[in-house]
Amino acid sequence: MDSSWVTIGYLISAGFFIFGLKMLGHPRTAPKGNQYGMLGMLLAVITTIAQMQLGEDGIISWTLIISGILTGSIIGYIMAAKVEMTGMPELVALFNGFGGAASALVALSESWTYIAEGRIEPTGLDLYVIVIAAGLSALVGWMTLTGSLLAMYKLKGGIEVFGKWIKTPTWGPSWLNPVKAILFASVIALIYLSINDLGNSDYLWGIIAVSCLLGIVLVLPIGGADMPVVVSLLNSLSGIAAAFTGFIINNSVLIIAGSLVGASGLILTFIMCKAMNRKLVDVLFKSFGGSTKESLTRTKVGSDAEEVAMMADGAQKIIIVPGYGMAVSQCQHQVKEFADLMTEKFGTEIKFAIHPVAGRMPGHMNVLLAEANVPYEQLIEMEKINPEFSDCDMAIVIGANDTCNPEARTGEGPLAGMPIIDADKARTVVIIKRSLSVGYAGIDNDLFYEDKTMMLFGDGKKMMNELNSAIKEL
Ligand code: TAP
Repeated sequence: MDSSWVTIGYLISAGFFIFGLKMLGHPRTAPKGNQYGMLGMLLAVITTIAQMQLGEDGIISWTLIISGILTGSIIGYIMAAKVEMTGMPELVALFNGFGGAASALVALSESWTYIAEGRIEPTGLDLYVIVIAAGLSALVGWMTLTGSLLAMYKLKGGIEVFGKWIKTPTWGPSWLNPVKAILFASVIALIYLSINDLGNSDYLWGIIAVSCLLGIVLVLPIGGADMPVVVSLLNSLSGIAAAFTGFIINNSVLIIAGSLVGASGLILTFIMCKAMNRKLVDVLFKSFGGSTKESLTRTKVGSDAEEVAMMADGAQKIIIVPGYGMAVSQCQHQVKEFADLMTEKFGTEIKFAIHPVAGRMPGHMNVLLAEANVPYEQLIEMEKINPEFSDCDMAIVIGANDTCNPEARTGEGPLAGMPIIDADKARTVVIIKRSLSVGYAGIDNDLFYEDKTMMLFGDGKKMMNELNSAIKEL
């Protein structure tokens, strides 16, 4: 095949990736952006297969390629179709791990030909570049695989072995940090040694073993509340591993796609750190993040839907604060119905306050509310909506807890310094959740016990249905 066709094929697929990524920046254009990304990947796969078939040796085994594509597509489709919206972060963590493993496996097969079989072409500097890239790809790829698998089980809260539930541990004594540094330095030393002793495959296995261990010790001390940041960082690492592998097999689209994933993952990591008021170094090297649940001693009498409907009747402005519980109860359609009812019946101004880490994945609330056709203009980011609470008659918190916990302002505990939605500044606060129990960070919330707070205890969907019926009857 004329190599210019390959370049053009890869160039077009890289274009799809770049435009797709740009479109993912806004909820309205995100679905199209996803489709662009899929098209780019399809084109990259077709170009690679065509290049192989029309190359010197042709494709050695079509059966292997077709069965690989079919198996991957079927497993991917089933997993994506089956996953609950609340299980999305675990799936993303697993996919990051698979991405890292795929890059590491390609690097392994290439390293095998260059290092273990002592292939001498190319020579000189090119050979060194390939051996170093293979070592780095193995380091990042295997570390991403084991780190992501552990992150997935941490997000799940545990693992079931022979019917027994084993809680995922969070363990990080201070001496673990020097251990991480030693492991990292060992991999770099092994890569260096492998350059000077090309025929020795022992270094390769050493790099793999130490990298796998490094992934585990890096994620092991990280507490629950910091997990989203880690998943995003692992996502970035899986891209970096792919970019290294692109260098090894001289594949431009892999370098471009890997760099895009690496860079965007890193940007998202920093955005999330900022949203949680955490430094990335603290997330990675200080064991922290609320994995134990506080035991609750206080009580609060609940209200009912009729009482809340009567209060809402007199409100001119209501801000709805959605959180993880809205995702669990899947009550976004009932929430939209409530917003429509209030606007049509009483002319109430309705807005939604969106915290950047509400729910269990970035953009979780935006996705759910967009699915229920809530206009994007009504979804207001935290910094913009917070000044409006002092001028708001009622804040309705639906299944949110940590993201509006005033404890975060005290600078102590697992939520220390995390910017929150200022729901407590509204004249009246209604909180819909099943009990007084804690959220993800595991700590009690003073907002529940304030005099102006009305607790509507129950499942989000059930309570929203009751509230909507009560509003209709007014
Ligand atoms: P959380 O603090 O996790 O609180 C959610 C609340 O929803 C719980 O207290 C629970 O109380 C309630 N709930 C659960 N099921 C419900 C149902 N069926 N109906 C009504 N309520 C229900 O939620 P948040 O305010 O959204 O905060 C998110 C937290 O998750 C943050 O700590 C964040 O750091 C962390 N996190 C975020 C992400 C991303 S990227 N968004 C990823 C992982 C972790 P009851 O049990 O009493 O009902």
